[in-house]
Amino acid sequence: KPAVRLALLGCGTVGSEVVRLLHEQSEDLTARIGAPLELVGIAVRRPGRQRDSDIDPALFTTDALGLVKRDDVDVVIEVVGGIEPARSWLTESLKAGKSVVTANKALLAEDGATLHDAAAEGGADLYYEAAVAGAIPLLRPLRESLHGDRVTRVTGIVNGTTNFILSSMDATGAGFGEALDEATELGYAEADPTADVEGFDAAAKAAILASLAFHTRVTAADVFREGMTGVTAADMASAKEMGCTIKLLCIAQRGEDSAGTDSVSVRVHPAMIPRSHPLAGVGDAFNAVFVEAEAAGQLMFYGRGAGGTPTASAVLGDIVAAARNRLSGTRAPSESSYAHLPIRPIGES
Ligand code: NDP
Ligand code: HSE
Repeated sequence: KPAVRLALLGCGTVGSEVVRLLHEQSEDLTARIGAPLELVGIAVRRPGRQRDSDIDPALFTTDALGLVKRDDVDVVIEVVGGIEPARSWLTESLKAGKSVVTANKALLAEDGATLHDAAAEGGADLYYEAAVAGAIPLLRPLRESLHGDRVTRVTGIVNGTTNFILSSMDATGAGFGEALDEATELGYAEADPTADVEGFDAAAKAAILASLAFHTRVTAADVFREGMTGVTAADMASAKEMGCTIKLLCIAQRGEDSAGTDSVSVRVHPAMIPRSHPLAGVGDAFNAVFVEAEAAGQLMFYGRGAGGTPTASAVLGDIVAAARNRLSGTRAPSESSYAHLPIRPIGES
């Protein structure tokens, strides 16, 4: 079969690992998909930047829009981040019928509807498993395996950077700045780590999780958000004295508001939890998410929530799904028809 042709937008922490895995697993991937994957271009901001020497320099371009417009590109992989120009690149790609794989939770949470609508218009598929909880298979189970059930609540730790900082403060009494620098060095933090520590990143993920769990459209603006910059060493010490620790939690619930209307509430904030709670033992940059559903009961998803290699694993899974679906003419599940449930004020949760 002819190759499935890929365009990669971004070659930083995540993108460089995507390229490495594509090369390393090339033979296995070809066997699993039934056709080879061919990387035809990589858009970056600084093509002269020092990078992995195995990457063919001829692949680099600064013209991302030109790359996604190429007729010979089948799948566009976006690991740049931010709202614009990523939204324009992906909208263009989807409307032209190309499959899109993205890890861009900020864009999905702010304006996922535009991407879903573009996908519907172009008859194209949008994949974003890497956007929430890094390597953990979480969105596909919510979108597919649990689709016949009624999810009532999603609770978890969905930001690796802040979990790394809070775990360090708890374990060693490390200072906030020192732990943030280490998390940044390890590739966990966003380009602007304010997004992590002020809870914007977790709020974006909470919006995506709530949208999938409750088949609705929740945006980042709908999420009550409080970051963890106010958590001090003294707060952590007090929590420890009480047999607790402090975690930045995301909590999304479905229920009835005071008028009896079906609605959702979504929030992100630091919370004190007993050491006996399963989330208390989630350390480093790991993530863990509890899903409660009426028939399934409680489910827990746990694993590496940040970092180039774990995130690239999820991106690769989506690339394989996109390639297989293109070859077989199968469409991925779509969220374009989701209705909008009212957002319940936090006081009514
Ligand atoms: P990086 O900052 O490490 O990489 C960003 C890449 O995008 C760089 O290669 C950069 O080019 C390129 N880029 C930036 N602006 C442009 C532009 N205008 N045109 C073309 N290329 C551009 O980010 P990450 O790899 O950490 O994150 C990428 C995405 O993945 C984000 O959406 C992030 O939220 C998401 N994500 C990240 C995770 C992580 O653990 N790091 C985990 C899950 C999701 P250059 O190399 O030349 O600077
Ligand atoms: N900055 C994010 C985090 C990356 O720390 O969780 C993974 O989405």
